[in-house]
Amino acid sequence: MQYDILIIGAGVAGLYAALNIPTDKKVLIVNKTRPWECNTYYAQGGVTTARNDADIPSHIQDTLEAGAGLCNEAAVKVLSETSQEVIHDLIARGFRFDTAENGRLLYTKEAAHSADRILHAGGDATGRYIHHFLLQHNPHPMLANATVIDFLIEDGQICGVEVLYKGERKLIFANQVILASGGVGSLYRFHTNAYSISGDIQGICVEKGIALEHMEMMQFHPTVYLGNQGVRKQLLSEALRGEGAHIEDEDGYRFLFDYDSRGELAPRDIVSRALFDYRKRTKKQIYLSFREFDTDYFHRRFPNISANLRDMGYDVPKDRVPISPAFHYAIGGIKTDLDGHVGSVKGLYAIGEAASTGVHGANRLASNSLLEGLVFARRAAHAVLADSSNACHQSFTIGTEPLFLEEDKEKKEQLRRIMWQYVSIVRTTEGLHEALEQIDAMLNSPVGRLLKLRLLTAREIVQSALKRTESIGVHYREA
Ligand code: SIN
Repeated sequence: MQYDILIIGAGVAGLYAALNIPTDKKVLIVNKTRPWECNTYYAQGGVTTARNDADIPSHIQDTLEAGAGLCNEAAVKVLSETSQEVIHDLIARGFRFDTAENGRLLYTKEAAHSADRILHAGGDATGRYIHHFLLQHNPHPMLANATVIDFLIEDGQICGVEVLYKGERKLIFANQVILASGGVGSLYRFHTNAYSISGDIQGICVEKGIALEHMEMMQFHPTVYLGNQGVRKQLLSEALRGEGAHIEDEDGYRFLFDYDSRGELAPRDIVSRALFDYRKRTKKQIYLSFREFDTDYFHRRFPNISANLRDMGYDVPKDRVPISPAFHYAIGGIKTDLDGHVGSVKGLYAIGEAASTGVHGANRLASNSLLEGLVFARRAAHAVLADSSNACHQSFTIGTEPLFLEEDKEKKEQLRRIMWQYVSIVRTTEGLHEALEQIDAMLNSPVGRLLKLRLLTAREIVQSALKRTESIGVHYREA
């Protein structure tokens, strides 16, 4: 199988890149599970956009401030300055964001934004609506249920990937490969991510010496309901707080103001840490309360959250819901330039959550991620079309390392517990060393290749966390 371009992953970044590549190119989208099992599908809140040219400096400023001094300013500028263009492109192609009766676009606010500049669709199903739209408009073939297990690289050039498909290992060749495979959610015990998102591609990068950046920067969402079945926990969108939901303890006390004068609207690293600290100190249960909302408005504005919570027995907005922070988003990832190019390998690109352009710095501003997916996917698509990488010599053989071993399942659970306990919201030197030791022990024991890739990614997160001795953004070192 020889293609011009392979796209690994079918979330917002992969599909929007595909949409920007003409059909005279032979393109294949390779997708690990079902086409909709991706983080985009579960994104609730919305897509940020500068509302107009006058809003660009303020959007840039909010992004830089949330990023706590670690953003790549050039990337932030590109993000904000291109935001209106990609949004208008989606609208021109037929996508419908939520509007008022007179057709005016509705903008909402989320934490750490100084203006209402977040567009949404389906109320609280923005990711799902965009994803569905992009799938419907995707002009290229897709191979689903195919897990990438290796990269084919020859003389510093990408030549394709090895996949596991229907129980068999197969080689797929291409002149260029775009990695849009998402972050690392399944490495953590509690997370909001699609179950397929497990950092295997980042593990292959570690193995191949491809640079990852800012891997210590793992973002935790403050308002997650952990009580539902399944590994993916129920996100309670930041838009709820943006529009008036309160965080309180079991006695109704709004303790967030003891931590930050912005209360519920402080950046999410501050809110997550406050929840973690308050719970640890007081042992009190923490809740998200919706009592300020008008009932009809709540159900209309947040139809999915409201239906899910009612299914789980909560009579919202009357009932408050117990919450905890959970892992949400990998800020760090595969280091790229502003066109998505992975410097050390010709023909290799990374976009979306898999990539690190430096746009989010040490803390991602709410709803900048779908925007990042759109903006940098389009740039990468254009760069790929101008890339002259040719087909490589096809002298690769299929790998022989076992992919799974019987004990991997328990070790995978152990890894999730280690990452949650030692490498989450508050980190200590001792805890990080403990995590490293346990991960190394697993890496030195017999493990299948898929678990090994997860372990390599986890190890990189821990090592980056150990290297950064100061607290900044989402990376908080207690000692
Ligand atoms: C949310 O709806 O709270 C998630 C938004 C985001 O992760 O940016």
